[in-house]
Amino acid sequence: MNQPKVDVLLAANWAASGLVQDVRRGLGSVPRTLPPKWLYDDEGSRLFDRITRLEEYYPTECERTILRDHAAEIAATSGATTLVELGSGTSDKTRLLLDAFADAGRLDRFVPVDVSEETLRDAAAMLATRYPDTDVEAVVGDFTLHLGHLTRYRHKLIAFLGGTIGNLYVEERGAFLGALADSMDAGDELLLGTDLVKDADRLISAYDDAEGVTEAFVKNSLRVLNRELGADFDLDAYSYVPFWDRRMQRMDLRLRTEMPQHVTIPGADLELDLASGEEIRVEISTKFTEERLRDELGAVGLEIGHMWRDPSDSFAVTLARKVG
Ligand code: SAH
Ligand code: AVI
Repeated sequence: MNQPKVDVLLAANWAASGLVQDVRRGLGSVPRTLPPKWLYDDEGSRLFDRITRLEEYYPTECERTILRDHAAEIAATSGATTLVELGSGTSDKTRLLLDAFADAGRLDRFVPVDVSEETLRDAAAMLATRYPDTDVEAVVGDFTLHLGHLTRYRHKLIAFLGGTIGNLYVEERGAFLGALADSMDAGDELLLGTDLVKDADRLISAYDDAEGVTEAFVKNSLRVLNRELGADFDLDAYSYVPFWDRRMQRMDLRLRTEMPQHVTIPGADLELDLASGEEIRVEISTKFTEERLRDELGAVGLEIGHMWRDPSDSFAVTLARKVG
């Protein structure tokens, strides 16, 4: 049986792998923020998986449509022998690419990279069985820290799907794209999924679903702090406030307390006094235009070859090549 290899670059203990630092930096000052990678413990990954199947959350199905229509073309024209996937999660849509590469018969290796270890291990085991001719080399790692690991792979296509790049702040995104380009050789390719700027009502409904799954996903961040750092956040005291920030072109997902809160976070040696009406920004989800993508990719030497959109013009998948 084809067994996956799993490299663990992230300390198994979340508190040791940067959570304490992030909490001190993000929650210890105003405006209060948390980096979204801490949303994806096992429960967070399960909740995200439910989000992808919600009626209101269009990005997953739009991206799937694009991949279904163009995976064969991507596999046929790509010179890649290694497919890397950043923030791979369940790698569900990626199977469309893997199937197309299997038909083209040229893929030696699949390298899914994710912080969420259990989800990654399950996906890697399933993929190794399904694609017996492809070596699955999973990496439990952080794509904001561990891109140097990718330099060992020649002739690679790096997929970064789902619009996850939009969860990075603009300065983080610049640093991420710079490090990504540095990890690529001339001719290596990036396949990038991005959600597009659109009508505010459609965006808000995608992030404020009727069943409350997105609210549970965002609130799960406080549960992570309670469990990992012994914090005493009272989850019921916070309401979920998603809004469209037109100027920054991003959804802004916050938790607000209507009552003053005293919170102790022993694992981070931190005490917080939140005033009534105070908010914690848990996640942003930036939406893109073609111009912005062209500028940001071009700035790091990634030249766009194709940009496909789904029929409703909601989501884009861009294929770019490292030049020089
Ligand atoms: N690519 C999948 C999953 C998107 S959800 C899709 O398109 O549906 C975002 C994924 O990125 C989660 O699996 C989460 O665990 C992972 N993730 C978030 N921040 C990360 C980081 N800094 N490094 C690696 N993985 C990260
Ligand atoms: C993973 N990422 C692209 C999702 C998004 O749409 O920004 C995370 C998410 N947050 C709330 N709903 C979905």
